[in-house]
Amino acid sequence: MKRLGVLLSGRGSNFEAIARNCASGTLQAEIGVVISNREDAVGLETAHRMGIPAVCIPARGVERQQHDALVAAELDRAQVDLVILAGYMRILSASFIQHFPNRILNIHPALLPAFPGLDAQHQAWEYGVRVAGCTVHFVDEKMDSGPILAQAVVPVMESDTAAVLAERILAQEHQIYSETIAKVLAGGWRIEGRRVLFGE
Ligand code: GRF
Repeated sequence: MKRLGVLLSGRGSNFEAIARNCASGTLQAEIGVVISNREDAVGLETAHRMGIPAVCIPARGVERQQHDALVAAELDRAQVDLVILAGYMRILSASFIQHFPNRILNIHPALLPAFPGLDAQHQAWEYGVRVAGCTVHFVDEKMDSGPILAQAVVPVMESDTAAVLAERILAQEHQIYSETIAKVLAGGWRIEGRRVLFGE
């Protein structure tokens, strides 16, 4: 069974969706460890409730490289095949990313390359786009920039608030993240330039 390591900082709804899919067998993988940089992350509680190993590695006052080394050591101990960023609100150091080449996935709540960075759903809503969505991508050394694995599109309604739009996007996130993890774990894909080819 392939193993996932999940990094999160907060609510953890993407983590929970993935964990449920692992538990039901919809996603053939197991979560080896959940790591939060924040003690108060709701996702840590969810992990405890679901019986999934979870630890907090606080980042405050620790130099980035050193914190990332602690996180990488924990992921190595759990022998994870893929690292899943699920609302992990920290920039990763180059050495961390190089430690897991093409083995770190992130989900971003916008159709990249539009609206990278924080509060993407609000940025998109404010910009007045007619469709919005989310992107699953490999993580490289720049923020929200690695090769794209999957995207889902949702409509933007005139009656939407940014919060309503974010909910609509989140429902898609919960679906495409697990599906994409399964495809990556299945192997047989390759990267050409920025394009990920699954041989579909
Ligand atoms: C999601 O919107 C995700 O796209 C972004 O951070 C948020 C995390 O939400 N990277 P949750 O913690 O998974 O509920």
